[in-house]
Amino acid sequence: MTEQVPVLTIDGPGGAGKGTISGLMADRLNWHLLDSGALYRLTAQAAVRHQVALDDEAALAELAQTLDVAFPVDNGQPRTLLEGDDVSRVIRTEQAGERASQVASLPAVRQALLQRQRDFCQAPGLVADGRDMGTVVFPDATLKIFLTASADERARRRYQQLQEAGVDASLSSLLKEIQARDARDSQRAVAPLKPADDAVTLDTTRLSIPEVVDRLTELLAQRGLADGI
Ligand code: C5P
Repeated sequence: MTEQVPVLTIDGPGGAGKGTISGLMADRLNWHLLDSGALYRLTAQAAVRHQVALDDEAALAELAQTLDVAFPVDNGQPRTLLEGDDVSRVIRTEQAGERASQVASLPAVRQALLQRQRDFCQAPGLVADGRDMGTVVFPDATLKIFLTASADERARRRYQQLQEAGVDASLSSLLKEIQARDARDSQRAVAPLKPADDAVTLDTTRLSIPEVVDRLTELLAQRGLADGI
């Protein structure tokens, strides 16, 4: 039950540092991690694989419902498998993010992924990274964080991340893509990107990763949840 297991939700726009911070917090707390964006990216990837149009809502919802995915860790390296194939890199490109954002705007797809996301909520706790973790998926979360950063800073971070992963990118097109994706994610009718009423908003433009982690640990401690870390 979501009420009994502590949940830390980390929502916000792309490139705000959610993925990095969520991973570090999950490690620190020894909690499970839900990368909900990966589920939307995987649904879009499954659509490409099965030649389903990105606006065929019923067919996409069916794909989302029956998505055959696994998140094994090999030699400390997390991997993402779709129907047994390693898609860890292919789902991280900007094109994959763009497709994910398209399928994520469809209500039936979001509904199909809802229970799958809630199933990640298992003891001893869950760190949930996404856009609607605090507003829709885990409304009773213990601590809800909304991470932001300026669009320029987010484009710069994404660029660096892609470079490190060996993926080609251009900073100016990344900025344009980030702005377009922000607009689509915030303006969509279902589960738009916005902070939950009870979320703590943290602007990370001028904060280092350790500073953000410390701040979140402090907020968890205030809720009696960060003993011994
Ligand atoms: O976080 P990430 O960039 O992997 O997410 C890819 C896309 O999936 C986002 O741009 C957004 O449209 C969608 N998404 C969503 N709800 C979530 C997580 C991601 O709509 N909880």
